[in-house]
Amino acid sequence: MVAAMDWREYWNRDTPIYVSDRHKLLHYWLIANDIAAIVPSPDAVVLDHGCGEALSAQRIAARCAYLYLCDAAPLVRERLEQRFRNEPRISVIAPEDVEDLSDQSLDLIVVNSLVQYLTLEELRHLLQTWRAKLKPEGRLVLADVIPPDVSPLTDAKALLSFAWKGGFAVQAGLGLVRTIFSDYRKIRGELGLAQYEESEMIELLTSMGFSAERRRPNLGHNQARMTFMARPA
Ligand SMILES: C[S@@+](CC[C@H](N)C(=O)[O-])C[C@H]1O[C@@H](n2cnc3c(N)ncnc32)[C@H](O)[C@@H]1O
Repeated sequence: MVAAMDWREYWNRDTPIYVSDRHKLLHYWLIANDIAAIVPSPDAVVLDHGCGEALSAQRIAARCAYLYLCDAAPLVRERLEQRFRNEPRISVIAPEDVEDLSDQSLDLIVVNSLVQYLTLEELRHLLQTWRAKLKPEGRLVLADVIPPDVSPLTDAKALLSFAWKGGFAVQAGLGLVRTIFSDYRKIRGELGLAQYEESEMIELLTSMGFSAERRRPNLGHNQARMTFMARPA
């Protein structure tokens, strides 16, 4: 039953957030390209935390030495393992496994569109872990963070604009109507999404031992949301 569900359970199944296969494909293609563009060097070891189905992760792997794909949902991990079983430079891991990575071993940690599903306590815990796992010159990129003034309507407009350019506008319109009646809307109403002011996020990152700044553009298609670039201070 939806009322008893939390966000982690919600993601452990096929969700209606992608309005069509083309939407999902283009979404992951765009995210992978945006992440590939910030990989600092071909020797980099990269973690994509909360990666989702990461359909185009091989594009990131092609730009770095090693890529860890981490997702909390067992179903998502099974699919990733299947998809990347022949990619020697990609490992699929659970959030608990991140704790076991060597300290100061990662050059880049990307966290796209995850923060809104975490409590402040969970986010603090993860920031502590990420801080420990980053090399001194490594970078944490927290992206798609939702500011308080961004409404579901703004998200809908961003999706329609992405859909128009991507050739799936009709499906996007229908998908938005479906969303109104979906579990996502109900669970969002019950659990809410964590939203942060730019200054709040910078303060949080600073208090957790990072030096941080806003980075424009945001990763992905929705420029009403924010990306932060942080380094161990
Ligand atoms: C909105 S999706 C984002 C997927 C991908 N990063 C993207 O940008 O498309 C959120 C993903 O985070 C995963 N997730 C939720 N809580 C998590 C946690 N604490 N640690 C790792 N993954 C988590 C979910 O299973 C889901 O696949």
